[in-house]
Amino acid sequence: MAPAAATASYSTAGTVSSPLDLDALTPRGEHESVNLNGSAAAGGASSRRAIRPKPKVTLTSLTPNNSGTLRKINSVVLPIVYSEKFYKQDVLDATLDDINKLGKFTHFYYADIPVGACCCRIENMAKGAKQPPTLAILTLAVLAPYRSQGLGSALVQHALRSALHPTAPPAPTPPATGTATRAQLKPVEPRKPINRALVHVQVGNDSARKFYERLGFKEAGVEETYYTKMEPRAAWILVCDDIAAALGELPNGVNGA
Ligand SMILES: CC(C)(COP(=O)(O)OP(=O)(O)OC[C@H]1O[C@@H](n2cnc3c(N)ncnc32)[C@H](O)[C@@H]1OP(=O)(O)O)[C@@H](O)C(=O)NCCC(=O)NCCS
Repeated sequence: MAPAAATASYSTAGTVSSPLDLDALTPRGEHESVNLNGSAAAGGASSRRAIRPKPKVTLTSLTPNNSGTLRKINSVVLPIVYSEKFYKQDVLDATLDDINKLGKFTHFYYADIPVGACCCRIENMAKGAKQPPTLAILTLAVLAPYRSQGLGSALVQHALRSALHPTAPPAPTPPATGTATRAQLKPVEPRKPINRALVHVQVGNDSARKFYERLGFKEAGVEETYYTKMEPRAAWILVCDDIAAALGELPNGVNGA
């Protein structure tokens, strides 16, 4: 796991992506296109289809100010309760600022609404680790009314891309009160590129498994007692052994394994 956050704070308030084009990002399933006059584009019996404007989505850094929102989204969507430390320290690790994101929808009438989030950590960084350095996806959640529009895929692909092409973490800012040591104000070293990712999915959650397979993950085994407080306790270990290939960054980049 990445080292615990130093006491100096890191300003990530300005780290908001430009609006994403979810259609361009996502290997989508079948989706209907709908004309603004309400008639279905193809094959529909009914002409009374809801007109849904294309959502504008941005990915925002996690900060102490929005980690409560992350907690709310996770508690509504996921069956696991995460600790105080997870929300107050782990997800705010400055070295993961480019990976851990909150996804916001901008509605026509409303301001930005946070509706999903992805949180990860980096594993196997120690010398002599049995596996190569790995991006471990810890939580991925999108509020039900906002699903199937590409946000989940965008969050995962963003995390994969950031693991492969790390950017320097934001510079530490001095604390509002008191003094900081030189060590606390030292810029954090950028990570090394990581080309492997892993996620545990509860056995039986076929739709989530399919979702990850579509993004380039494959089953690498089953951990029989991964969950302690819910049944089934077993989890599929889904691994993406070549992030670059999964993102289509290599010529003929299909992993033959
Ligand atoms: C998995 C999840 C993050 C996907 O988010 P999303 O924004 O709907 O993702 P996308 O729009 O990019 O992809 C949607 C596809 O994921 C699949 N999917 C996976 N899990 C699903 C779920 N629980 N409910 C609905 N669709 C799901 C669907 O097949 C869907 O395909 P479609 O677009 O052809 O309908 C979201 O469904 C979710 O939060 N599920 C509950 C929590 C969970 O299972 N997390 C993953 C385990 S770590």
